[in-house]
Amino acid sequence: MPTLLITGANRGIGLEFVRSYAESGWCVHACCRHPDKAKELKEIPGDVNVHRVDVTDELQVANVARSLRDQPIDLLINNAGIYGPRTGFGEQDYQAWSEVLQVNVIGLMRTVERFVEHVSQSELKRIVNISSQLGSIARNRSGAAYPYRTSKAAVNMITKGLSEDLEEKGIVVISVHPGWVQTDMGGVKAEITAEESVAGLRAIIDNLTPEQSGHFYSYDGTEMPW
Ligand SMILES: NC(=O)c1ccc[n+]([C@@H]2O[C@H](COP(=O)([O-])OP(=O)(O)OC[C@H]3O[C@@H](n4cnc5c(N)ncnc54)[C@H](OP(=O)(O)O)[C@@H]3O)[C@@H](O)[C@H]2O)c1
Repeated sequence: MPTLLITGANRGIGLEFVRSYAESGWCVHACCRHPDKAKELKEIPGDVNVHRVDVTDELQVANVARSLRDQPIDLLINNAGIYGPRTGFGEQDYQAWSEVLQVNVIGLMRTVERFVEHVSQSELKRIVNISSQLGSIARNRSGAAYPYRTSKAAVNMITKGLSEDLEEKGIVVISVHPGWVQTDMGGVKAEITAEESVAGLRAIIDNLTPEQSGHFYSYDGTEMPW
């Protein structure tokens, strides 16, 4: 069976990805910041291996990559993310903004760089970056959310760059918008459940072709504008 490695696996969309792929019989490496507190994650039946990974911590990411060396990873899902302060123009907290970039952008790139050889050795060779429609420049008609929007726009630029840099290794890289999802980040008023989001995303991820590398998709299968 194929292998998935995912960050931010202890709650929300990440937890649902683990549930879904473990149920399909995949080997899952589920990374989270506090395995000791990840009760729901540890209760998921199947081949689920929990690792301590804060994506801003170089040593933690490198340690897990080393401990899994020579183990192919078919699918790397960069899911860990934070929204940051919900402030408008004129109210920026620059320290908090830089933390958003550390997690959503630098942490994501660090994870890709540390695990690229594992993905390269695999059968499927897929990297999925969880972006957001808020990262779409074309779709920005309401301003605000500068920290989150800039971080996800940067994620999209990374996706495009990786699709070029990793093409020779045969690795397919996409960005996805998971929908507005009922999680701690999305809130209770969000439009869809994590189950609906992951079902839609899996329909895309599980059928990816090389021609799709460097593209940005919504969970409903439509292509998103950059
Ligand atoms: N929900 C939505 O409507 C929505 C819409 C568009 C995009 N997204 C994106 O979807 C992804 C998942 O979001 P979600 O809704 O599931 O959010 P969530 O419920 O708030 O979960 C976020 C996850 O990221 C983890 N995380 C935060 N900082 C981390 C770090 N430094 N290192 C490792 N893990 C870290 C959290 O771990 P802790 O429990 O330790 O904090 C948690 O597991 C994010 O990238 C988000 O931007 C969500």
